[in-house]
Amino acid sequence: MRILTGIQPSGQIHLGNYFGAIQNILALQEKGDSFLFLADYHALTTVRDPEALRTGTINAALDFLACGIDPERTVFWRQSDVPEVQELAWLLSIVTPMGLLERCHSYKDKLAHGKEATHGLFAYPVLMAADILLYRSDLVPVGKDQKQHLEVTRDIAIKFNNAYGEVFTVPDAYIPETVAIVPGTDGQKMSKSYGNTIPLFDTDKAVKNAVMGIVTDSTPLEEPKDPETCNVYKIYKLLATPEQAEEMAANLRAGGYGYGHAKKALLAAYHEKFDACIARRRELAADPAQVEAILRRGAERAREQAARTLDAARKAVGLP
Ligand code: ADP
Ligand code: TRP
Repeated sequence: MRILTGIQPSGQIHLGNYFGAIQNILALQEKGDSFLFLADYHALTTVRDPEALRTGTINAALDFLACGIDPERTVFWRQSDVPEVQELAWLLSIVTPMGLLERCHSYKDKLAHGKEATHGLFAYPVLMAADILLYRSDLVPVGKDQKQHLEVTRDIAIKFNNAYGEVFTVPDAYIPETVAIVPGTDGQKMSKSYGNTIPLFDTDKAVKNAVMGIVTDSTPLEEPKDPETCNVYKIYKLLATPEQAEEMAANLRAGGYGYGHAKKALLAAYHEKFDACIARRRELAADPAQVEAILRRGAERAREQAARTLDAARKAVGLP
């Protein structure tokens, strides 16, 4: 079973991204034939600064490699290194009804947020369909916000197959419903737009400041506290073992254990979990040629599949 997903590079990653998305992607490399790419063509629809696009893409590569994407097991590449996807997007656009794209929430949301109505934003789902169909994906893990784009992909694949014969595999979306929302330092959903994140890869000082800045109530140190309403505990639970989490909950309930103690334990658990990733990221960042070579090698592997599918699609429509 081929499992494929694309990631739009989007700035400094945080614990919400890790526990909400990255962890799932890592788990998939164990489950099947795993394909993962950095969607830089898609990022172009919103990033207009060339340097920001370049560094954003490389940083995302570093993040994923550091977190444990193994380029031997996962075909890992940069979308634009296989430009065949653009040709397929054109062949797909031939059978894509305007109405299908006009109904896309993501397009309408972007306009509502003041983005210019460009053809790139409008055609975004067609390029995404090309990503998925080019690599004959069976299963596409995505967040809820991408569900409609997967439906569009299926519609396009079916329309093309009906018009020209069975060229494409019709994929299924895989939307993990169980992913919990990771709270930020203020208790709202952790999100870079709310400025309440605990970064995954930043200086020790920045991580410490974020942890120490977690909002707590003013229950005095000696009094019992409710773990279920404690932001520190909620984040700690994600990082610690179940036994450690139970121990903190018991300490909070018993009283005589302050939020300062809990924050120290949280910081220790963060380092326990991520120090190896941090060290790996540092090593990779110091060797850009190695990262480039990993991405190029991934693109070569991706291209083998891409060339076969594109050839079949070209022949099906009557191109040489
Ligand atoms: P942000 O909200 O910081 O801009 P993104 O929208 O770029 O984050 O999210 C990237 C991925 O991380 C998505 O799959 C999203 O569902 C997941 N994610 C982001 N924040 C959280 C969170 N607080 N809890 C769970 N998952 C999250
Ligand atoms: N649109 C996706 C997002 O913003 C990224 C993406 C591009 C993607 N192409 C894809 C995801 C193909 C899955 C499959 O998250």
